[in-house]
Amino acid sequence: MAKLKVGILISGRGSNMAALIEAAKAADYPAEIACVVSNVADAPGLKIAQAAGIATTAIPHKGFPDRESFDRVVSAELEKQGVELVAMAGFMRIQSPWFPGHWQGRIINIHPSLLPAFPGLHVQQQAIDAGVRISGCTVHFVTADLDAGPIIAQSAVPVLASDDAEILAARILRQEHRLYPLVVRWFGEGRISLAGGRVVVDGVPAAATLLFSTEP
Ligand code: GRF
Repeated sequence: MAKLKVGILISGRGSNMAALIEAAKAADYPAEIACVVSNVADAPGLKIAQAAGIATTAIPHKGFPDRESFDRVVSAELEKQGVELVAMAGFMRIQSPWFPGHWQGRIINIHPSLLPAFPGLHVQQQAIDAGVRISGCTVHFVTADLDAGPIIAQSAVPVLASDDAEILAARILRQEHRLYPLVVRWFGEGRISLAGGRVVVDGVPAAATLLFSTEP
């Protein structure tokens, strides 16, 4: 069967992108990484993707008159590569509503908190400051509302009294690297869709899928 063509959007180090590239090396993985696009020309992740032989494009957002004109160029590049699913992985550019509208049901993001708690930035510090005992990561459909699209899957980790933001971020990141390839696999297997603003898993309108990590 043809593999699902995935386009990854990055802005930085690209460790989630690398996890997807690694997963896609397996012969039985139902998705392939068609291209990586960055809005930051010297994003370290681009080098990782190039070393893996993946088509990369840098489209610096500076110089575009507005968000939508940048988004349309990014979208055209993804379409040129035949992308069927867009996976945002540390893409630090706020998009115009046009982009998630155009890719509705075909664009996902990973976020390092258990949404809807702690959207935005510095989320591990937000979790520590709030005193929560459990945090984690979320893969969700992207909509026009930042970090607020329908939740597909989450992985939970403990927050320890001794944690600082860096330690907690590392613990969550290990789960991100596990969860994102798993969710993209489900897409490749045709198990996930969006209908009426709800996530459908195996044909059943379902609540989010949850993995637990007992890793301290
Ligand atoms: C990850 O924590 C991801 O959840 C968030 O941005 C970070 C990107 O890290 N959206 P990387 O570039 O994948 O290493």
